[in-house]
Amino acid sequence: MKKTLFFLLCMLAFTLQAQEISLVPMPAQMSVGTGSFTLGGDIVICQPKDKAIAKVVKNFVNEIKATTGVKIKTDTYKKTKFKGVRKSNKKAAAHIALSVDETMGDEAYRLSVKEKLITINAAKPAGFFYAFQTLKQLLPRNVMAGVYDASVEEWNIPAVEIEDEPRFAWRGFMLDEGRHFYGKEEIKKIIDVMAAYKMNRFHWHLTEDQGWRIEIKKYPKLTEVGAWRNSRVCGWGDVKPDGIRYGGYYTQKDAREIVEYAKERFIEIIPEVDIPGHSQAAVASYPEFLACDPENAHEVWLWQGVSADVINVANPRAVQFAKDVIDELTDIFPYKYIHLGGDECPTYKWEHNSDCQAQLKEIGSTNYRDLQINFYRQIKEHIAQKPADEQRSLIFWNEVLHGNTASLGNDITIMSWIGADNAAKEAAKRGFNTILSPQIPYYINRKQSNLPTEPHSQGYGTETVEVVYNYIPMNNVALELQPKYMGVQANFWTEWVETADIVQYLMLPRLAAVAEAGWTPQERRDYNDFVKRMQAETEYYRLKGVNYGKHIFE
Ligand code: ACM
Repeated sequence: MKKTLFFLLCMLAFTLQAQEISLVPMPAQMSVGTGSFTLGGDIVICQPKDKAIAKVVKNFVNEIKATTGVKIKTDTYKKTKFKGVRKSNKKAAAHIALSVDETMGDEAYRLSVKEKLITINAAKPAGFFYAFQTLKQLLPRNVMAGVYDASVEEWNIPAVEIEDEPRFAWRGFMLDEGRHFYGKEEIKKIIDVMAAYKMNRFHWHLTEDQGWRIEIKKYPKLTEVGAWRNSRVCGWGDVKPDGIRYGGYYTQKDAREIVEYAKERFIEIIPEVDIPGHSQAAVASYPEFLACDPENAHEVWLWQGVSADVINVANPRAVQFAKDVIDELTDIFPYKYIHLGGDECPTYKWEHNSDCQAQLKEIGSTNYRDLQINFYRQIKEHIAQKPADEQRSLIFWNEVLHGNTASLGNDITIMSWIGADNAAKEAAKRGFNTILSPQIPYYINRKQSNLPTEPHSQGYGTETVEVVYNYIPMNNVALELQPKYMGVQANFWTEWVETADIVQYLMLPRLAAVAEAGWTPQERRDYNDFVKRMQAETEYYRLKGVNYGKHIFE
């Protein structure tokens, strides 16, 4: 009897202990110990001398102070590996010791939490950042949410041993602001949530038929004209445009501010300027050289769907326009990638334009898609002439594979959305890198349930959290093609979604499901376990002030 009681008490103690740990994404390897590290009293972070690591530490220290009131001191060591506490700090209540281990991956970290000592090993600042994100998730959710909670008496971090690194290098989220403009503060909130889930690429879809959202100084009409349309809603079927002037855009200063904000959270921003299709807003701004039919009237589009009013790729001024836009994007966004779209580009206007017909003959093709490829080739050659620090690599949606891609070299990346698994394989076979963003189920703007409370959106409520979670990236892919798979990305299109709170509702918690597919080894992923861990996330969402879908919690 005594033995049974002891066993039950042990089980209860273990369950209580285990309940405290709810990490998203699930680490690659984790074992739970006993006891905990208490944040409080005199705590010292022992850190190697490195500016970038110091910045990561400083942000962590500031966040802990702002959310818990606990002040953590720092002590900088000359050595890269922690060899023991300095005499002057021996009396501290506890230590957090950082060591550089160059054998580890760029985003990997090793975290050990014991009663008086936390050790963190990583090769790069990103690894230390992710270790701190994990520590924040091991604390009450107000810490990750960034809000102070005076009611917590003791800030305990449960004892754990974690060895962690992402499955994929690319863990992305795309937001379409062409259809609706949400503004800086909403983007920062999304970036915070992405960082909480260790996502690292924000793909910013900045231009559409319905709006151009980024200031380009050489072409001011893109935002004077192209950022505004004569209706808030995008009409479709029985939805009538309302005639209200509606829009907005980011100045270059705004965009740089967001780039900096994301950079502190180890998120790279990939701007997308979708050309030559999905470009009616640009065409309406400069019809004299962008339109295939400049003699006709052009306006920023009020409708959903795919406009036939595409850029005239055979006009040399349109090609120059694209190069100039690239130059300004290169200056604002310091990262390797720029996305040029390339999806759903109707060729109808080219087929009826004599310059386009002549150019098709000139390039020796009968496939109008090749005019689009030829347009990209010229942009690519322009980039190739730039100095090394201005080199950029281009990403395209997978429709580009319908043209003769040979002229683009093989250093482009294909973002696979339609027939994604097959498209990704085809891209990899052609020697291109690829990113998996399957329309079904990773378009997380689609309805996520059949609840009557589900907001107005696209789809049938069939892309539930479970369906999204259970998509297996890189399934049945030959070993030799696998290195071409950079990772996964959730996409959010906004034709139906006018406000940021509905973006959040549809995005969450499915974004967490995609984040886990990008980070956690497939064999460690388990939907039922994920749902359990999501319970703690509802507290994070509440405190963070973000909306979320409720169907898995009801
Ligand atoms: C897309 O969904 N048109 C990329």
